[in-house]
Amino acid sequence: MPSITHSRYFGGVQVTVFSGAGISAESGVPTFRDAETGLWAQVDPYEISSSHGWRAHPERVWAWYLWRHHMMSAVAPNDAHRAVAAWEDYADVHVVTQNVDNLHERAGSNRVHHVHGSLFEFHCDRCGAGYLDEVPDMPEPVATVEPPRCGCGGLIRPNVVWFGEPLPDDAWQRSVDAVVNADLVVVVGTSSVVYPAAGLPELAVANGTPVIEVNPEPTPLSDSATVTLREKAASALPGLLQRLPVLLG
Ligand code: OAD
Repeated sequence: MPSITHSRYFGGVQVTVFSGAGISAESGVPTFRDAETGLWAQVDPYEISSSHGWRAHPERVWAWYLWRHHMMSAVAPNDAHRAVAAWEDYADVHVVTQNVDNLHERAGSNRVHHVHGSLFEFHCDRCGAGYLDEVPDMPEPVATVEPPRCGCGGLIRPNVVWFGEPLPDDAWQRSVDAVVNADLVVVVGTSSVVYPAAGLPELAVANGTPVIEVNPEPTPLSDSATVTLREKAASALPGLLQRLPVLLG
């Protein structure tokens, strides 16, 4: 297998990127846990992002997700998303993302595994059928909007994982494979506190795979990562592959 540090074009090398909300922060999407601007500082996550909250107040949950859908549609990929997509010229790249935005895809990445689902897909909460109609645009947040109904009478919900729900089987299995088969795992913009997703970088560490963490703040992963870069994603990722010989020795 070619060495990740000494191969000029990285042919045959697999790089797996594990991303969280921080990679989209410089595009203008708020993270979850920032004390002042984070989404969870503004709403109760267990009300707005749980099946219990959905059953109690679907109109509140739907309105909140429509606004986030608008916000994520209105922003553009940043240099970090673009750098990851450009790595496909040099390596076999898989992106495992906890993000429900589509910024990796819009930047040009071809293998993106959404472990927490996607806010660009919708399905019926009763029969599971996909919902292909356009959802209403919501440029400003409003308190309540009635969700559309499926032909079976169920309510249309976003295809995102809520607290207490299992992760999508297919995406999870592809993500585990992407980590197990990686020659290098780059963990970027995640607080590394939400399981089971946060277990993926730990799996790489346990397998002896080099793990580079990119995050301006320390996380529970920092001490076990091979290298930690206290940098922002859009600054660190564009030159990262070129820095590997220095970073990994
Ligand atoms: P968090 O909000 O928990 O963490 C964001 C991380 O990004 C923090 O560690 C920040 O320090 C870091 N960060 C901020 N700006 C950055 C930048 N410009 N470059 C690099 N890093 C930056 O978001 P996640 O870890 O993604 O789950 O949260 C994990 C899950 O918790 C989410 O997928 C969501 C949430 O509950 C579900 O909705 C199921």
